[in-house]
Amino acid sequence: MQASPIGIFDSGYGGLTVFRSIADRLPDYNYIYLGDNARSPYGDHAFDIIYKYTLECVEWLFAKGCHLVILACNTASAKALRTIQQRDLPAKYPDRRVLGVIRPTAEVIDQYTSTKQVGVMGTRGTVNSKSYLLEINKFFPDIQVYQQSCPMWVPLIENNEHLEPGADFFINEYCSQLLKQSADIDCVLLACTHYPLLLPKLKTIFPDYINILAQGDIVANSLVDYLARHPEIEQKLGKQGERSFYTSGDPVAFDEHASIFFGEALKSGKM
Ligand code: DGL
Repeated sequence: MQASPIGIFDSGYGGLTVFRSIADRLPDYNYIYLGDNARSPYGDHAFDIIYKYTLECVEWLFAKGCHLVILACNTASAKALRTIQQRDLPAKYPDRRVLGVIRPTAEVIDQYTSTKQVGVMGTRGTVNSKSYLLEINKFFPDIQVYQQSCPMWVPLIENNEHLEPGADFFINEYCSQLLKQSADIDCVLLACTHYPLLLPKLKTIFPDYINILAQGDIVANSLVDYLARHPEIEQKLGKQGERSFYTSGDPVAFDEHASIFFGEALKSGKM
């Protein structure tokens, strides 16, 4: 009897916002979280670097026994997921699966907009990949997508400066750039797993009629559905409720900062 954990990966802390939702929805499974903090942020890196880093982390999670890995990072999902799914898994790991966060979000985005005008805020990597434009238009050709890259947000959040008054300029600036693209946007997708930490500020900036959408619950719902449709994977998963956390950076620094994202104290180990 195998007891494989579900691997959850992000470039740093942001994936913990998704892990929070997954752990609340599916508390009995075993999980391993890996943050590549030593090499984050990924957002401005070239495609081949993001792919290389992501694959290394996925392979590390496979070596830890994971049969299913979630890329809880939009940048890695945009830049690395397709190559891993189409090239690396069939060639080297035919019985393992890697899922991302973009497709599950694109599949349900129509539920959150009446005007069919959606704003997508993400890293430069995610925005330049046009992954959301393509995926949303595949499912909902009538939805107009407006993208805004927010390159200062992840560094501000990773350094815990995001709620300081000094951060306000950059938070306001990207929001107003997005709204300038269309007056009819009624849904703003936070297409970076770090951004839910900005919600208190974003709620004061965007008008009340705009839905500000974080991805955690959407990804958790999609995972529930995936596991129901894939018993061959589900049967391999351990259900002792075990959770472990690893970082490629400094575990002491990780533990100090991670609770803001995960909503509870945790203890990590070195990757
Ligand atoms: N949390 C990652 C994402 O969802 C971001 C970040 C980064 O490392 O730039 O895109």
